[in-house]
Amino acid sequence: MFLLSAFVSAALASQVNAAAAGKASSAGKASTFAGATSTFQFPPADAIATASLVDSFFPDASEVGFPGATPTGDEAESVATAPAIAPVDAYFPLVRPDTSDNKGKSFDVVDSWANLSPMQSLDPNSFGLGSASEQIPEQCTLNQVFLLHRHGARYPTGGSSPAVFAAAINAAAGNRTLVATGPLDFLNTWTYKLGAEILTPFGREQLFELGVGFRVKYGDLLKNFTGLPVWRTTSEERMVDSALHFAAGFFGVQSYQSDYHQLIEIESSGFNTTLAPYDNCPNANNAIEDIGVNATTIWANVYLKDAQKRLQAHLPGFNLTIFDVLAMQTLCPYETVALGYSAFCDLFTEEEWRGFAYSIDLGFWYTNGPGNPAVSAQGIGWVHELVSRLTQTRITTFDSTVNKTIVSSNITFPLNQPIFVDASHDTVITAILTAMNFTNLAAGGPLPLTHIPKDRTYIVQELAPFGSRLVGQVLDCEKSGAPSHIRWILNDAVLPQTGIGKCKYDSNGLCELDTFIAGMKQRIEEVDFQFDCFANYTFTLEGDTITTGQFPQNRKHQN
Ligand SMILES: *[C@@H]1O[C@H](CO)[C@@H](O)[C@H](O)[C@H]1NC(C)=O
Ligand SMILES: *[C@@H]1O[C@H](CO)[C@@H](O)[C@H](O)[C@H]1NC(C)=O
Ligand SMILES: *[C@@H]1O[C@H](CO)[C@@H](O)[C@H](O)[C@H]1NC(C)=O
Ligand SMILES: *[C@@H]1O[C@H](CO)[C@@H](O)[C@H](O)[C@H]1NC(C)=O
Ligand SMILES: *[C@@H]1O[C@H](CO)[C@@H](O)[C@H](O)[C@H]1NC(C)=O
Ligand SMILES: *[C@@H]1O[C@H](CO)[C@@H](O)[C@H](O)[C@H]1NC(C)=O
Ligand SMILES: *[C@@H]1O[C@H](CO)[C@@H](O)[C@H](O)[C@H]1NC(C)=O
Ligand SMILES: *[C@@H]1O[C@H](CO)[C@@H](O)[C@H](O)[C@H]1NC(C)=O
Ligand SMILES: *[C@@H]1O[C@H](CO)[C@@H](O)[C@H](O)[C@H]1NC(C)=O
Repeated sequence: MFLLSAFVSAALASQVNAAAAGKASSAGKASTFAGATSTFQFPPADAIATASLVDSFFPDASEVGFPGATPTGDEAESVATAPAIAPVDAYFPLVRPDTSDNKGKSFDVVDSWANLSPMQSLDPNSFGLGSASEQIPEQCTLNQVFLLHRHGARYPTGGSSPAVFAAAINAAAGNRTLVATGPLDFLNTWTYKLGAEILTPFGREQLFELGVGFRVKYGDLLKNFTGLPVWRTTSEERMVDSALHFAAGFFGVQSYQSDYHQLIEIESSGFNTTLAPYDNCPNANNAIEDIGVNATTIWANVYLKDAQKRLQAHLPGFNLTIFDVLAMQTLCPYETVALGYSAFCDLFTEEEWRGFAYSIDLGFWYTNGPGNPAVSAQGIGWVHELVSRLTQTRITTFDSTVNKTIVSSNITFPLNQPIFVDASHDTVITAILTAMNFTNLAAGGPLPLTHIPKDRTYIVQELAPFGSRLVGQVLDCEKSGAPSHIRWILNDAVLPQTGIGKCKYDSNGLCELDTFIAGMKQRIEEVDFQFDCFANYTFTLEGDTITTGQFPQNRKHQN
């Protein structure tokens, strides 16, 4: 499930056929042409075939023995013991790109990649609580932590715009009509080296580092486990890979396989899982989703017009559409997070990179955020699970994407864990934030299609970059020994909870636990899962004014 893949659906159907043709030809001689897809398999087949002959020369550490001294130390809890947080402020080994007009200045292209950007710590004031941080407020102690994170950096969705563009270049090269000059000269020898769907090496690093960071910040909570932790992910390759790298970072590669249980929920059409709720919410996957694609298309025709003209001058014999130009821009982040560098990045100006980020903001707002009527319904299942965990009460009403089999068992869904870890997707994190009613994120109202508004509050870069993390801290702020408050921290900036039920403004983002739980229960009442996910309704860009990710109550009778 990924936003830009939607472009393929209708608008580019004809070019998908070209993609298929390019793929076929790249297997033969044509693979020498520009735009060809190149892949590589490691290890070599011979090494696999002969492995059993040499394995005995390379015994495991447990067979070798002689490990040296192995005393362990105590757990860390740096969110309580350190004076400040350690920010994520780099993206080694990715090479920082330039723009075409602003070489060397302070603007960083990487900060405009939105959901394709590597997570970096947000400015503490991103959501208006500049004096708060992930560090535990002085009057509080930590009882429990929730982590909902996204997978790491990945290859593009199979058949999405980068691959389609590569196939078109490959076809033109095969036709001998590809003549690329000036800044596009590199296209004459460029090949498409990206796979699809799975994590890149950098993406693995991100999750490993998240695991290490979480151990140093919250490891002390391990002392209050009575059994092994049960942490969740979904069945997709990149989701399992992300969860395992998190665990490897958290526990270390010598023991992570025995230190916790990894629950893998099936992510596939028709299955219930709150970590991939679109698979049981038909309205998430049908025409209603088009509003986000339409919004992005309209905006791309505004902000990429100049780039289209500028680049076309260097590519006679190939007609660049707006979709081609957007695909070229999209190749910059995807190539960079996979290959460390991309020649596509500095084809675009600073202004065009701001436009790119906004195109993704639009797509998320109208497809996976407050502007889409089937979004709170997708996020509400995780809210059910959150209430179940916070109240230590089993779910008994099944009216969401909650999987009854999973949550009814104290083996697969324990309620009393000091550390909960759930892995999911960008579009699910934004659905959950919408379902939870973090209303300040939607405060600017529907996003305009003609320009980037000043002071916008809905910025995907902040919500769902690669490796994005939403952390919930359950705290005792009344020295009562029992949890009294909760707060939420998104990519290291504290979220205000004003607007969630009766939660009041607090400079540390705190809300009383009971008040918060009452707010979540009220949200569960407010969100109409059956209608929003399954009803046959129409919803247009022009008519849209929603900001809660729900179908408008007053229009229901018309449908
Ligand atoms: C951890 O468990 C101990 C012993 O059961 C208890 O005294 C303590 O309050 C617990 N700590 C937290 C943070 O829940
Ligand atoms: C290549 O040539 C074929 C056959 O003439 C044509 O259909 C196709 O559009 C051409 N491709 C490009 C990218 O120009
Ligand atoms: C619940 O999850 C399990 C494991 O992913 C799966 O086998 C089962 O089919 C799911 N149930 C429903 C109703 O989707
Ligand atoms: C999206 O655009 C297409 C083509 O212009 C149009 O047919 C469709 O109704 C639009 N969808 C929405 C939800 O606005
Ligand atoms: C580009 O578009 C022009 C005008 O629509 C057309 O005449 C020309 O054949 C096209 N060129 C290619 C390579 O498709
Ligand atoms: C998923 O859960 C919903 C709501 O509880 C239920 O109606 C539906 O039958 C479940 N899906 C499957 C495949 O069983
Ligand atoms: C699960 O619940 C059963 C009965 O309610 C109880 O006997 C068992 O000890 C619990 N198991 C765990 C792992 O908490
Ligand atoms: C959620 O936000 C909407 C719009 O601001 C508001 O009408 C509703 O009462 C809120 N619900 C809860 C439980 O916070
Ligand atoms: C949905 O409603 C439209 C318009 O009322 C109707 O044409 C269409 O057949 C309906 N689709 C389904 C699946 O009921």
